[in-house]
Amino acid sequence: MLLLGIESSCDETSAAVVEMEERMRAIRSNIVASQVDIHRLYGGVVPEIASRAHIEAITGVTRQALEQAGVSLGELGAVAVTACPGLIGALLVGVNFAKALAFANRIPLVAVNHIHGHVAAAYLCDPDLRPPFVALVVSGGHTSIYRVETETRFVELGATRDDAAGEAFDKIGRVIGLPYPSGAAMDRLAREGNPEAIRLPSPALAGDTLDFSFSGLKTAALNWLNGMAQRGEEVNRADLAASYTRHVVEALTLKAERALEQTGLRTLVLAGGVAANSHLRASLEAMCRRRGCRLSMPELPLCGDNGAMIAAAGYFQAVRGNFADSSLNASAGETLPAGTG
Ligand code: KG4
Ligand code: ZN
Repeated sequence: MLLLGIESSCDETSAAVVEMEERMRAIRSNIVASQVDIHRLYGGVVPEIASRAHIEAITGVTRQALEQAGVSLGELGAVAVTACPGLIGALLVGVNFAKALAFANRIPLVAVNHIHGHVAAAYLCDPDLRPPFVALVVSGGHTSIYRVETETRFVELGATRDDAAGEAFDKIGRVIGLPYPSGAAMDRLAREGNPEAIRLPSPALAGDTLDFSFSGLKTAALNWLNGMAQRGEEVNRADLAASYTRHVVEALTLKAERALEQTGLRTLVLAGGVAANSHLRASLEAMCRRRGCRLSMPELPLCGDNGAMIAAAGYFQAVRGNFADSSLNASAGETLPAGTG
């Protein structure tokens, strides 16, 4: 089946054509128009600006995705669009565009949960991957652990109670002068520092819970920076990046391992923008090797927001006949809105 995937939940407008069958996965195109240069000016995503930029980009991005794939609208088996969660104005651009395109051309439409999309990136890179497995989803907006029972059924086992891991990287990165979003720059800087240099609180909540809290870590790092400034001491940014990263990575690894233990499952999937973090990938690799578990991680270009992952998640909805109707709306929250079939 050929699917067009459309993503506009935050600050990337993306469209992709993906071909999927039971044992076959091929990305025919995956166009991503990033707005980071616009939002960098403000140190974070400005929702109103994001919506406008999506409107400007979405037609061209979709046309380019179809052209590059050499696929016409008539050949598509489905259009898949991110309907939740995300910035409501941004989501509405993609949902309304996809609805118009699908219904005007009589193409079945499927609504996709963005988090399921991130996890579906793993199916594109690892065609043998099958549920059940544990998924650790870490992005700018989410940090959650799921038991993935089928490609479309997720049970949340734990989540952050405040900031997401990506947000925690971005906020500290900004304070130490790294450009927004700082995740990738923090990753590189952390390689040059001493991860044991600064002691900070762990974002892994104590006890059996699989929940996290990143706000304490962030505040402790800010307090440390303020203390250094008050004493007129020079900050070693690489040491801070390395220590901060170590705390984030250790917490994510600990809870992912506990989720494997608690569920008895032997496969872990890492997904979301922060899945590109080299320290996190290495730490999960070591943990899974030690436990004899299988680890599936998307290739770096598929970790961040993209249309191919939405098309892949849409395929599993389409084969189940879960099509959306013309009443489909977008939702900022985690549950798919009405009209999703
Ligand atoms: O999944 P994503 O593209 O958007 C959301 O759904 O939020 O994730 C973006 C987040 C940003 O916070 C960015 O700083 C972070 O992913 N990120 C990284 C790395 N690359 C991107 N964080 C840590 N290390 C990286 N290498
Ligand atoms: Zn995302």
